Amino acid sequence: MITRKTADEIEIMAEGGRIVGRILKMMEDVVGPGITTSSIEKEAEKLSDHFGIIPAFKGYSGYPSAICVSVNEEVVHGIPSPKRRLREGDIVGLDFGAIHKGFFSDSAVTLPVGRINSRVRKLLDVTRAALERGIQSAIIGNRLGDLGHAVQSYVEGFGYSVVQVFVGHGIGRSLHEDPQVPNFGEPGRGIVLEEGMTIAIEPMVNEGESSVRVLDDGWTAVTTDGGLSAHFEHSIAVTKDGPRILTLDCGDPKERIS
Ligand code: MF3
Ligand code: CO
Repeated sequence: MITRKTADEIEIMAEGGRIVGRILKMMEDVVGPGITTSSIEKEAEKLSDHFGIIPAFKGYSGYPSAICVSVNEEVVHGIPSPKRRLREGDIVGLDFGAIHKGFFSDSAVTLPVGRINSRVRKLLDVTRAALERGIQSAIIGNRLGDLGHAVQSYVEGFGYSVVQVFVGHGIGRSLHEDPQVPNFGEPGRGIVLEEGMTIAIEPMVNEGESSVRVLDDGWTAVTTDGGLSAHFEHSIAVTKDGPRILTLDCGDPKERIS
């Protein structure tokens, strides 16, 4: 069942989403060569307390941490560890969600660790732009196949591949609601987007082949061929005025007057 949200509900989601966007933005100052991925977890927990949101992933289907931290060939769902140290030239995906006043929001970025080479930079730029293409397709009357096709055709135009076993999703009172939002598809297929739908769009783009496998920890998904993978995600609302990004960083929410 697909739920459509009222204007008031969308405002609540945007309030929580702004905090998610803020927290991910603040992680840019945390991430750097030499830090461990568990220090990112500590920061995520600290900032969640500071901004008064509940991290959405900890305990979700047994996931052990507040934030997913996925390095290099790790696609998604990496588990923070005191043993994993970031190195200059790595890329690190940070996926974070919040529960705020009963509503979820979910967003992800992939950040460079120190200086990265231009080949890796391009993977990040294309994945971020692919998300943007998906968002721009989320307009009333378009179909999910239109959205998926926009993402996939853009990505494949650069010789990269989109991951197909993980997809975006509806979001609201639950983290994962209907519909599924694939990053691939055919124009004119799939459900029609309607006003008030809220979805998380999250392209995962591989440098090489699209296939992934899950490590023995039961969570960490890695590329089968060992190639790099990048991930960007926003939660958005389909509105009369077009797509509205709910997980944007708008500065410190604690310093906002309204
Ligand atoms: N953005 C991911 C998703 O929507 C994060 C979920 S991690 C989990 O699926 F631990 F909560 F599963
Ligand atoms: Co998601």
